Amino acid sequence: MDKIVIKGGVPLAGDVQVSGAKNSALPLLFATLLADGVSEICNVPHLRDINTAVKLLRELGAEVSHEGDCLRVDARKIQSVEASYDLVKTMRASVLVLGPLLARCGHGRVSLPGGCAIGARPINLHLKGFEALGAEIQLDHGYVEATAAQLRGAKVYFDMPTVGGTENLLMAAALAEGETVLENAAREPEIVQLAEALNSMGAKIQGAGTAIIRIQGVETLQPLNCSVIPDRIEAGTFMIAAAITGGNVLVRGAVEEHQEALISKLVDAGVTIQKEEDGLRVIGPEILSPVDIRTSVFPGFPTDMQAQFMALMTRSSGTSRISETVFENRFMHVCELQRMGAEIQIDGHSAIVRGVREMTGAPVMATDLRASASLILAGLASENTTEIARIYHLDRGYEKIEEKLAGLGARIWREQE
Ligand code: UD1
Repeated sequence: MDKIVIKGGVPLAGDVQVSGAKNSALPLLFATLLADGVSEICNVPHLRDINTAVKLLRELGAEVSHEGDCLRVDARKIQSVEASYDLVKTMRASVLVLGPLLARCGHGRVSLPGGCAIGARPINLHLKGFEALGAEIQLDHGYVEATAAQLRGAKVYFDMPTVGGTENLLMAAALAEGETVLENAAREPEIVQLAEALNSMGAKIQGAGTAIIRIQGVETLQPLNCSVIPDRIEAGTFMIAAAITGGNVLVRGAVEEHQEALISKLVDAGVTIQKEEDGLRVIGPEILSPVDIRTSVFPGFPTDMQAQFMALMTRSSGTSRISETVFENRFMHVCELQRMGAEIQIDGHSAIVRGVREMTGAPVMATDLRASASLILAGLASENTTEIARIYHLDRGYEKIEEKLAGLGARIWREQE
């Protein structure tokens, strides 16, 4: 298994290109199942989660081919409607095939995701939505089976804004009969991209990016042709890398409107952010001020940036409170950061972080995708050597992160254990 080795202490400088967004590419790939034809999606990042999605599409009978960062999906012959436990346990987002399968084939069978490193992550709201559209849902041997000869538009109210739930319902409702209204829908940029992509296929969706989305069902959809938006979480991670090392980095592809919450908190911490033509320039201060954050749904502070921001606050000149409200149990990185010398106390859903002058490098272990990124950031800011094991988590969601950081002057490389 590979590990990442970092000898920190170098202020990062230069410019770095953000890849396509994993969390946008995944629903777009599954949306190709809605059309009886050949779709093409470009700016797809090279990631383990994308490989898992491709494997799943192939198991369903789709033909998938690569050309550079474009993926062609021929969804003319769908032979299976099942997402197996092996795939769903590797990648929860596999449940996003259920909406398209139900809409196109009238039937879908998907393994329940089960336990997850960042707490219980049920799909009850997805299922409640499908039921509202007239699907019959059955649970059988750890699988969810959904059936509907013809989905019918309905009003769906989400008890909480769910990204995956909103995406699954958007895809199902696009081919339902009549109007569907999604209330308390998630508003993330990835939802907006999915809605725009579906509209380019012939769907009639209005309101994506607000809490109420209206979908007029259509009979068929054309194949998809689109390019994935830049990854705001990868961009945010590079922005913090610049800030934590006191560097000066142009993050190419970072979109200001996608980063409002992060930008505001970085500015409070003393970081300088300048908008440039093709991205955001981030200049780290000599001394970072402590800042409190509270994660919430978009446009609030993203839970996927919580671990990275905590790494930043370990180096602030005071005490900050990091509150996690989206997922339970998303503080596994705390123990590892403590092993590097951070002073952090957990208080229910909050972590109290007392900034320290120096972090000591240490051998640490990645526990989930964003936790891994926080360990890299802490390692970049520490004078000694940090070794991060179990980096397969990182490969799920960051394309060549060590190469990109090395391009900014970081002393970081991958080794075989
Ligand atoms: C997506 C992102 C993930 C991000 C998360 C929140 C993808 C592939 N993943 O995950 O990176 O951390 O949004 O921004 O896009 N919930 C329920 N019942 C449901 C669905 C969700 O109770 O049926 C709860 C979850 O447990 C969680 C909250 O709702 O507490 C938000 O989850 P959700 O927005 O659905 O996250 P994902 O779509 O799984």
